[in-house]
Amino acid sequence: MFNILILGVTGVSAATLRAYNVDPGLVSVSGLSSGGSMSVQLGVAYSETFKIGFGAFAGSPYDCARNQSYADCMSNESPLITTPTANMKSWSGNEISAVDNIESRKIYIQVGSADTTVGPNVVDQLNTQLSSFDNSANITYVTTSGAAHTFPTDFDASGNNACTDSTSPYISNCNYDGAGTVLQWLHGTLNPRNTGTLSGTIVSFDQTGQYGAPGMDTTGYLYVPAACQGSSAICKLHVALHGCVQGYSQVGSTFIKNTGYTMWADTNDFIILFPQAIQDNKYYTIFGGKKLSNPNGCWDWLGWYGTNADQIGGVQMVAIVNQVKQITNGYQGNSSISTASSSKTTTPSSPTGATSASSSAGSAEKLINKKQAILALCGLDLLLILIFA
Ligand SMILES: *[C@@H]1O[C@H](CO)[C@@H](O)[C@H](O)[C@H]1NC(C)=O
Ligand SMILES: *[C@@H]1O[C@H](CO)[C@@H](O)[C@H](O)[C@H]1NC(C)=O
Ligand SMILES: *[C@@H]1O[C@H](CO)[C@@H](O)[C@H](O)[C@H]1NC(C)=O
Repeated sequence: MFNILILGVTGVSAATLRAYNVDPGLVSVSGLSSGGSMSVQLGVAYSETFKIGFGAFAGSPYDCARNQSYADCMSNESPLITTPTANMKSWSGNEISAVDNIESRKIYIQVGSADTTVGPNVVDQLNTQLSSFDNSANITYVTTSGAAHTFPTDFDASGNNACTDSTSPYISNCNYDGAGTVLQWLHGTLNPRNTGTLSGTIVSFDQTGQYGAPGMDTTGYLYVPAACQGSSAICKLHVALHGCVQGYSQVGSTFIKNTGYTMWADTNDFIILFPQAIQDNKYYTIFGGKKLSNPNGCWDWLGWYGTNADQIGGVQMVAIVNQVKQITNGYQGNSSISTASSSKTTTPSSPTGATSASSSAGSAEKLINKKQAILALCGLDLLLILIFA
């Protein structure tokens, strides 16, 4: 087991997110489960911001749960992608960034062969959908043999479960370096990771105001390697999104520490942004007029916080994009490259105007159907909540 020591973790009150010398042309995102679906949403809707590309571990197709039951977009169903894919084309350049961008983005897709929460049939549909927009040279689809619904690593870490288990904290030694593989697919070959004591610090920041949204915690986190704390190095930014039941309020710093992202960041001048979702027991109207709460702290992959959850203006995506823009706002380039086009980034639409999603604590639909009871990717607690609802 690697000996991971990270300094500066403990709970001083979160500060305002600061800017760093990060090249806005070197930004990417990945995540697990609802975080994987959110990565796809960000990579598609905000491809002008995520200029490198995106990765999804056990994620559902883009726009899957807006036009059909979310239960058809998980387990090992084969969700319909005709309408979602048509929506990508008709929304291109308006509700979402131009889909033509996708062909120059790197896309990484992963599924565990034994995943029954977001299984191979679901992820096959994600791959089919995105392959129609991206050249095969830029997209990769990996199946991790024998893996359940879990973030795959190649090292043991405290609290982790076996690769065949799908239980908290949903991180497992599967003899597969998920973090290193996705980062290198997206950004090219990297220096070897730091398997010893890391150079950097975990920085907490205030995830409210323009950096927050319904269903998000009040504090977010960054891993900042020593080289990126000042302005001497030009750094890269990767956003790593936890899955359901994996936020800081539920597993503390386990996702930040045990997934392996920070080890690669340390030796390759990456800042890793770890935005945080949180449990929300209020009920919201989703597809089909159903009422559903979010007791597992999932990212909004199904429209809890607005029917535009996966479009420009979707409140959680706006918050994350604002975080990215603030971090890259300290980009100084250098004298010889300050006029290069890579430093002049634009977005199709400023991610402002986050409005609060309307909520309803009204009559919750009784979720008696088995598929629905699976709920929201990893939903053991939900059964309890339902009993008391
Ligand atoms: C699903 O999408 C189709 C095509 O865009 C649309 O006509 C239909 O109204 C949608 N159904 C629902 C329930 O939103
Ligand atoms: C793949 O993406 C790169 C940028 O990462 C782009 O330059 C290249 O044109 C893309 N390849 C194809 C075949 O579209
Ligand atoms: C600026 O960056 C370029 C590209 O990395 C590099 O070749 C050059 O030496 C740098 N210039 C200065 C003054 O640091």
